[in-house]
Amino acid sequence: MGGGIAAYKSASLLRLLKEQGHDVHVVPTRSALHFVGAATWEALSGHSVSSEVWDDVAEVPHVRIGQSADLVIVAPTTADLLSRAAQGAANDLLTNVLLTAQCPIVLAPAMHTEMWLNAATQANVATLRSRGVVVIDPAVGRLTGADTGAGRLPEVEQIAQIALAQVVKHPQDLAGKHVLISAGGTREYLDPVRFLGNRSSGKQGIALAQAARDRGAKVTLVCANVALPTPHGVDVVQVETGEQLRESIFSLAQGADVVVMAAAVADFAPVTVSETKLKKVSGQEEVTLVLRPTIDILAQLSASKKPGQVIVGFAAETGDSNGSVLEHAQAKLKAKGCDVLVVNQVGNGIGFGTDDNEVTILIREPQSVVTVARNPKLVIAHVVLDSVIA
Ligand code: CTP
Repeated sequence: MGGGIAAYKSASLLRLLKEQGHDVHVVPTRSALHFVGAATWEALSGHSVSSEVWDDVAEVPHVRIGQSADLVIVAPTTADLLSRAAQGAANDLLTNVLLTAQCPIVLAPAMHTEMWLNAATQANVATLRSRGVVVIDPAVGRLTGADTGAGRLPEVEQIAQIALAQVVKHPQDLAGKHVLISAGGTREYLDPVRFLGNRSSGKQGIALAQAARDRGAKVTLVCANVALPTPHGVDVVQVETGEQLRESIFSLAQGADVVVMAAAVADFAPVTVSETKLKKVSGQEEVTLVLRPTIDILAQLSASKKPGQVIVGFAAETGDSNGSVLEHAQAKLKAKGCDVLVVNQVGNGIGFGTDDNEVTILIREPQSVVTVARNPKLVIAHVVLDSVIA
């Protein structure tokens, strides 16, 4: 743990992990011991505690602790610790543990909002995430004093849940399979600077890529304008427009066992794309955009799929006077011809950009419906893959 006031909350995290049967070793930085002393950590963990590489040298703790751990959780992670971790520093026992760890590393930052939002801190977070380190976003709420904002240590139950999810032994039921996933939202350009786009963040597609990778698949993720880090060990192809997405998906689908179209693809694109920037004309009160329907990638894929290939589509639905969400979804499953359709009910504060999702999965053969309650997108992703395998 780093030297932040939230170190006192780590005592509850330690107890929670111990109660679940885990053997926990505590490695505080020197600063962390200003907030909670070594005696507390030794009593709660049942192990001796040090911040230095010079204690128990004969046991080579700076290498042994990291190498033998199944999971490293740093809670709280200060701005200084994020910086040292991103630099690969090895100037105390904790940073040595981070460098030698052969297991997932989960960092739970806690600091003042200004420090968290500082460009240097954000760059360090991006660097660590790009190396596969899980950096949990801090919670928003009351900080040390009367101030509030982003920077609070998330609840210890949440830290434990996210951290332990990294070491779950997933069934390798997609080993030897190639899973192709599209994520994000396409852009249809009007001119070199303007486009028609949508709010899809790509989070659900990224979660699917991570879940498929963890279940042993070779994964290719086609990202349409995704600003988030992509999972390690996944091949990533970047595209912008629906046409680029279609070309990538069709060429990659040849070798794929499963294709998941999680991307939000524009249904219409401008008939003409101006090569030069469109200028406003003075006095003009209305502008008319002429759009043409785009090619439905999902429907085309389903119509031309290889034997044994599984095609998964996504749909966002609201019920209306013509039918319920489920009725519209059943009609879409039929119209698209895919094997599985994952349906989001639009609204309820979930969907675009959120970490959670709530879906209904329609399976064509044997015909069935699976309802999945509100859960993190990674959990939803695993249930979708269960349907694919079934
Ligand atoms: N899709 C596609 N190609 C398109 C449009 C959509 O492959 N040109 C895919 C999406 O990736 C998604 C599914 O089709 O898997 C969504 O279908 P769509 O008909 O676009 O759903 P909605 O946007 O909900 O459309 P509608 O307005 O018709 O309900």
